[in-house]
Amino acid sequence: MERLRNIVILTGAGVSAESGIDTFRSAGGLWEQHRVEDVATPEGFARDPDLVLGFYDMRRAAVQQAEPNEAHHALARLDAAWDGDILLVTQNIDDLHERAGVADVLHMHGEHLNAWCTACGTRSRWTGPLITRPPCPACGESALRPDVVWFGEMPYQMERIYAALADCDLFVSIGTSGAVYPAAGFVREAKANGALTLELNLEPSQGSHWFDETRLGPASELVPDWVSEMLGE
Ligand code: APR
Repeated sequence: MERLRNIVILTGAGVSAESGIDTFRSAGGLWEQHRVEDVATPEGFARDPDLVLGFYDMRRAAVQQAEPNEAHHALARLDAAWDGDILLVTQNIDDLHERAGVADVLHMHGEHLNAWCTACGTRSRWTGPLITRPPCPACGESALRPDVVWFGEMPYQMERIYAALADCDLFVSIGTSGAVYPAAGFVREAKANGALTLELNLEPSQGSHWFDETRLGPASELVPDWVSEMLGE
């Protein structure tokens, strides 16, 4: 794979589905169980903080019971063996990529295992509940919220993502529906910069027509096969 040196990989909820973590938009998914406006907007948080804190407390506890699957492990293998640049951008707020061994994961939508103090701005590693209004470890104020990017808020590290998209030879999207921007626009950005584009997903996404190639199936099968291909195994 001479020509392909720099890779940007985007993952979504589908990569963690086989670890038992609900996706958002599939049948019975999170957005069928909860109203987005209530649990994933700053307005919803202002309206009913207990509802929102309880929602993320439940998910934070569930993530800590989950284990990385074959897709996470394969991406960690590629990350360790690939001699070009790899940027792994995830929309997921779980830590399964890190637990599989990827050191530098860019969480563009935040992280479950961080609490963000709205009084002093400090982000603290957090594994327990927030609904009990614990004090911020830095300033002592009871002003912690989940470190999650809600609808209407700006995703993290966008400059770093666009710089990598401008410089990549290959853009790969894994387990995402392509329903949410700006992530859903990355394929076009990469393509416009001359990169090859590949989608690995259980079913066609809303952006499938932008990809040079789409492979359909479970991530736990597609990703290890693709990684073996990339490593010439
Ligand atoms: N293997 C591969 N793909 C899968 C699997 C699997 N085992 N299971 C589901 N998928 C695919 C689905 O076909 C779907 O296209 O993963 C995608 C999941 O889509 P969504 O539930 O919409 O999740 P995602 O794309 O990550 O959502 C984007 O929306 O709600 C917000 O902030 C939230 O980060 C999230 C963003």
